[in-house]
Amino acid sequence: MEKQAIIKVEDVSMKFNLSSEKFDSFKEYVIKRLKKQVKFDEFWALKNVSFEVYKGESLGLIGLNGSGKSTMLKTIAGVLKPTTGKVEVCGTVAPLIELGAGFDMDLTARENIFLNGALLGYGREEMEKHYDNIVEFSELQNFMDVPVKNFSSGMVSRLAFAIATIGTPDILIVDEVLSVGDFRFQQKCEERIRKMMEHGTTILFVSHSIAQVESLCEKIVWLEHGHVKRFGDADEICKEYSQS
Ligand SMILES: Nc1ncnc2c1ncn2[C@@H]1O[C@H](COP(=O)(O)OP(=O)(O)OP(=O)(O)O)[C@@H](O)[C@H]1O
Ligand SMILES: [Mg+2]
Repeated sequence: MEKQAIIKVEDVSMKFNLSSEKFDSFKEYVIKRLKKQVKFDEFWALKNVSFEVYKGESLGLIGLNGSGKSTMLKTIAGVLKPTTGKVEVCGTVAPLIELGAGFDMDLTARENIFLNGALLGYGREEMEKHYDNIVEFSELQNFMDVPVKNFSSGMVSRLAFAIATIGTPDILIVDEVLSVGDFRFQQKCEERIRKMMEHGTTILFVSHSIAQVESLCEKIVWLEHGHVKRFGDADEICKEYSQS
């Protein structure tokens, strides 16, 4: 059977404008902006990135802080549009990128479960069915009526992971979300990720724990200053990365 690309990243570049000036007030900024006196430094967070991911594969993105991993994942999740180049995604995406990005911190955990479900495309009734599973997996039974702003970062990540993994999305994106969970919870998440892989879900995974990346991923994209430094089999590239 011919392998089918589920994600195609073609020559993607992403430019951010960084303002290097400081302004004393918003008014000063607006005036200078109108007079075109604000200088922006162009910054390319991604430069000519290309790779493909096949259905059911697990791809790890590795690289130092600021190398462009989260930016790449956001373009795949459709949160950011690349400045140039093209990203094609065939299927549903459950993104776990910025911790608690889909949460309203003033709402309770219970309310956030339904809010997040809606963001992921689930109706209220469907979420009712998944509710117990989410509470049980996150182990936050006693905190459902607490506003999420009072949660620790580990608790936020438990809840976010439990919600994002209820169904079987075609693609699951996990960016550093596990690193704030404790060891036991990380193992539990890994198990769930593996189960989803068995059901054909494609995984995009970012972690600064190379051991974790190596154990979960088959393929690796190694980013360096927004460029692809290496793309290939996990064992080989993780070894090279650890020695660099
Ligand atoms: N919205 C933005 N505006 C300006 N610059 C940005 C923006 N988002 C990211 N950047 C810059 O792009 C570069 C890549 O950031 P990115 O978050 O993708 O790195 P990363 O590889 O995920 O790093 P980390 O390992 O720290 O999570 C950084 O230099 C960052 O400052
Ligand atoms: Mg990041």
